[in-house]
Amino acid sequence: MSAGQTDTRRHDGPPADDLVGIGFGPANLALAIAIEEHNAHRGGARALRATFTERQGDFGWHQGMLLAGATMQVSFLKDLATMRDPGSRFTFLRYLHEQGRLADFINQKSFFPTRIEFHDYLRWCAAMVAERVRYGQEVHAIRAPETEGPVDTLEVLTRPAGAPGDESILRAHNVVVGTGLRPRIPEGLSTGPHVWHSRDLLFRAGSLGDRPHRRFAVVGSGQSAAEAAEFLHREFPDAEVCAVFTRYGYSPADDSPFANRIFDPAAVDDFYSAPDEVKQSLLDYHANTNYSVVDAELIEQLYRTVYQEKVAGAERLRILNTTALEAVEDLDHGVRLVVRRLITSQTETLDCDAVVLATGYQPSDPRELLGPLADECLTDGRGRLRIGRDHRLATSPRVRAGIYVQGSAAQHSHGITSSLLSTLAVRAGELCDALLLDRAERDPEDGTARREIAADDDIAVPA
Ligand code: FDA
Repeated sequence: MSAGQTDTRRHDGPPADDLVGIGFGPANLALAIAIEEHNAHRGGARALRATFTERQGDFGWHQGMLLAGATMQVSFLKDLATMRDPGSRFTFLRYLHEQGRLADFINQKSFFPTRIEFHDYLRWCAAMVAERVRYGQEVHAIRAPETEGPVDTLEVLTRPAGAPGDESILRAHNVVVGTGLRPRIPEGLSTGPHVWHSRDLLFRAGSLGDRPHRRFAVVGSGQSAAEAAEFLHREFPDAEVCAVFTRYGYSPADDSPFANRIFDPAAVDDFYSAPDEVKQSLLDYHANTNYSVVDAELIEQLYRTVYQEKVAGAERLRILNTTALEAVEDLDHGVRLVVRRLITSQTETLDCDAVVLATGYQPSDPRELLGPLADECLTDGRGRLRIGRDHRLATSPRVRAGIYVQGSAAQHSHGITSSLLSTLAVRAGELCDALLLDRAERDPEDGTARREIAADDDIAVPA
């Protein structure tokens, strides 16, 4: 824009926030907690102003998979606060205490709460920071206020999710993109009344009408696939459930103690500083801690079911291993699957009431929201985002506002734990520190605060 031209984007509203967080899943909820605790203990002039946007109407964590009895795959001690501050009022233990269930939980002698209970804990946390969150608002773009010159603030454009409504603009010196994963649907397929992604399992199964075929199929061999097969077999006792996958059998998740260290906060430092080829080896070696694997206990349970049905001569849970999905066709009241046995090449047709695609998730790329700003993000030789240890995207010098990412977009730089819960509490503290440093650097009056932050929080202040 040349000098003197009118900038139609100029904003005369209130001063920009320190942060707009995009998406309010566990990752940005953990950050909201870290900020809340910082503001409560050391707030005053150093309080951070933060707003979060979430497209769901209320807090919800993978609600379509909150299956009765399904347990967490991470210790309750890796909640949203304990690993950073065991004395926090946002710990799972504090939640249990307030619910009057602390002793009962201890008597279970388990580190792994049910997902339903952990979801309730997350909602309990979310309720305590609710005034910071704009629910039902989807972010569709992040842009610079000006098309030229330094970018010191960002504009986050939101509109009501799934409903007509006015766009609003939030302004901030920093954004943290925590939009999570999106369902992976095999090429050529789309979801519909009888073709579901596992993400929607409970919603779809609960509203299923006629079931003329008395059969379901579940495609996939990971944790969600095994859980979906077990759920459908349990909930629909008159139905056959076909588990379709190309492996020979379900493989167990490696949750042994040495391998589990890959989820420690220190492992993020190790991973971040490792050479590229070592990073790739670590991802490959330890993929079986998380990807395409199933809890050993659930594997045992499914095997017992298959065997007992064989003994009884009524096989309702069918494991179609080394089998690939060839085609999916809509029927009037259901769906027809054609599957191919990989060893014999024989095909089989399965008319089903519904097929569940437990085919996993794919990362969402923050550049999709960034429009022209995406061109200002620096990438490595493989087109991947360059991300600082503090989770900030490296950008051209023009962009002085901070764009931070949480989640799988940082798996190549920060390791396997990026999309998981394990290090959220510690990462949230790191992000909070980065925002405080940014604030101190923006405010020339804040030199004292800048030194205090470094001394208090044991973090490096750039010269
Ligand atoms: P998450 O996907 O949870 O949240 C992102 C949020 O952003 C969503 O609420 C979404 O609506 C919102 N959003 C997206 N785009 C938006 C936009 N444009 N505007 C506004 N809002 C937007 N991990 C683990 O460590 N232990 C476990 O036990 C499990 N269990 C588990 C079970 C199941 C069924 C699944 C599918 C996954 C897990 N996981 C897990 C992994 C899971 O990724 C992790 O638990 C968290 O969901 C990661 O939190 P995030 O906040 O990063 O993403």
